[in-house]
Amino acid sequence: MDYPIDSLGFPRSMSLKTAVIKKVPSKDWTSGFFVGNLWQIYQLTGDVRFKERAVFWNAFMEKEKFNNHSHDVGFKVFGSFGKGLEVADKAKYKAIVVKSAETLTTRFNKKVGSIRSWDFNKDIWEFPVIIDNMMNLELLFGATKFSGNEKFKNIAIQHANTTLKNHFRNNGSSYHVVVYDTISGAAKNKITYQGFKDDSSWARGQSWAVYGFTMCYRYTKDLAYLKQAEATAKYFMNNENLPEDGIPYWDFNDTSIPNAPRDASAAAVMASALVELYKYTKNEAYLNYSNKVIQTLSSDKYLLNKSVNSPFILNHSTGDWPKKDEIDEPIIYADYYFLEAIIRKKALKFYENQSL
Ligand code: GLY
Repeated sequence: MDYPIDSLGFPRSMSLKTAVIKKVPSKDWTSGFFVGNLWQIYQLTGDVRFKERAVFWNAFMEKEKFNNHSHDVGFKVFGSFGKGLEVADKAKYKAIVVKSAETLTTRFNKKVGSIRSWDFNKDIWEFPVIIDNMMNLELLFGATKFSGNEKFKNIAIQHANTTLKNHFRNNGSSYHVVVYDTISGAAKNKITYQGFKDDSSWARGQSWAVYGFTMCYRYTKDLAYLKQAEATAKYFMNNENLPEDGIPYWDFNDTSIPNAPRDASAAAVMASALVELYKYTKNEAYLNYSNKVIQTLSSDKYLLNKSVNSPFILNHSTGDWPKKDEIDEPIIYADYYFLEAIIRKKALKFYENQSL
């Protein structure tokens, strides 16, 4: 589909029942993924029309470098400008990454040792941190790389260490939300917002954890991060509720399994993360899972039918089950991590062939 350029209309998801595309402005946490997809399709195909579109759309996002209303500046800016940097060395994009990281650090609380995720529900949650927030740390590591200022990396490390201490259960799975006390810095509640229940394992949250700690290992070489990524990956891959095709139900503990909706986005995030985890561990099981997911998602069951006029690639993701929002439909971030998994796998092959 030749998706129309619209500064306020980043495609986020689509209802296949009504054929309505949900469009969002750049302040939405998902805005950067569409731009990242254009960059990645350019990287995969070399078709400059995608690059031109990406540059255009990215310009609509620059103002997000000032948006300090949530932690999502990382997803937005690194998923778009960050992807642009992988194919074009642009001084301007680097400056935007550094400014955005500056904005993200304003949400860091020294006593807690974490970046605050959300500002809503302030009367219930004193200082909420969600596992998804691990993904935003790449913006900080990138900013240190581009500016030479260690402040960003140090904050990322403190956040990762606090998450490592408080977010995980003994079986390797992650809670969704940890609420902190800002006076003592202690974790006081471990709950969910998007999962089935407080002590369940929301599938995409597990994928954010594995991706986030693997990425932190890349920048720090701290083995504790690698160990956590492996523990959570094993929880996910060996779970008795993971279907044979590798695409999880939206939450591993939904009591309606096997009739619960799947989440292709959780599988795509995990597939991309596990290509990288394989690089560090050489554990074939990780690569096997990624290969299986790429294969499943490339099948007719998951690829969106070409007759559907839309900017999406994949079907069957679940956005927010508790709110009954975006259930079993195309969602933009599934496409983003699916493309990234394919690109990472290609790169892996390239480097492995080089060393033969
Ligand atoms: N970061 C929000 C989500 O994964 O739905």
